[in-house]
Amino acid sequence: MRDKLEEIKKKFSSELSEVNSSEMLEELEQAFFGRKNGKLTLLMKSMKDMGPEERKEAGALANEVKSEMIAAFAQKKSEIQARELVAALERSAIDVTEPKLPARAYGHLHPITQMQYEIEDFFASMGFMVADGPELESEYYTFEALNIPADHPARDMQDTFYIEGIPDTVMRTHTSSIQVRALEKYGAPLRVIVPGRCFRNEATDPRHEHTFYQLDGLVVGDDISFAHLKGMLEQFAGFMYGEGTEVRLRPKYYPFVEPGVNVEVSCFLCSGNGCRVCKRTGWLEVAGAGTVHPEVLRAGGVDPDAYSGFAFGFGLNRLVMLKYGIEDVRHFMSGDIRFLRQF
Ligand code: PHE
Repeated sequence: MRDKLEEIKKKFSSELSEVNSSEMLEELEQAFFGRKNGKLTLLMKSMKDMGPEERKEAGALANEVKSEMIAAFAQKKSEIQARELVAALERSAIDVTEPKLPARAYGHLHPITQMQYEIEDFFASMGFMVADGPELESEYYTFEALNIPADHPARDMQDTFYIEGIPDTVMRTHTSSIQVRALEKYGAPLRVIVPGRCFRNEATDPRHEHTFYQLDGLVVGDDISFAHLKGMLEQFAGFMYGEGTEVRLRPKYYPFVEPGVNVEVSCFLCSGNGCRVCKRTGWLEVAGAGTVHPEVLRAGGVDPDAYSGFAFGFGLNRLVMLKYGIEDVRHFMSGDIRFLRQF
């Protein structure tokens, strides 16, 4: 018995001295102390066949050897754990001499979207809701419902793209196409703005683009008059271009308003004295507007004898061009990152 124990102990010591990782340590533990097949475990199990005296002596000796082995094992275990911890720390350490990665490039909102959000905030503060509508729109909502019949010459002002195979449908030429939709859906009274993308069949040049953005507004209620329109536009001009900005309204024909006007603000660059941007006139055109035509109210299911309203439409591209002095509308759709980075 004594010899067998000595032999196990010697084997254990020599194997232990070879161990240099947690995995090897675990294997060794199994090989000697494992509950089923551990060498020491098996030897101790074999003692149950001995006589009482002999077993007592052998048991004492075995326990002594076992605690020596366990002590050596524990010592090795703490050595290995300490070594592995140091290695892990070294691996995770920051190398301050490593070259720096290029800074990540963040995008931002397109200047037209920035302008849209700014204007939405203004109108939301006046109780308007913000609505949306389809870009591929029926001819009905784009034209007919807005008092522009198929043979009307006003259609020539807004030639657009027709989609093959989808009759009576156009790429909407203005966000006014939502006016009758909104009236049908929400009825009167109503305060709504509609920002969105529009399309026209244009020979593109610095002032014309086939794809552009508008923001339409519609107010319908009891006794809504032209004076309300003017008051609201003056508030808007003050908000956009500063207190004291003047608004000038001149007659202009739009089939869906009566009377219709061209909305101008005093030039914020030269305070109305005349400069290159306002073409020496002192005024900048920013919108079309007017009192809603009775036919439009009727198309939306609203009785023009009971209600009245006004409508307006801003060209968002134009507002941004004026704000930053951008000389060519085609920059907006160009996707040129050097242009976009400026905003
Ligand atoms: N829809 C018109 C346009 O595209 C603008 C407008 C809107 C005019 C609302 C009057 C009222 O030119």
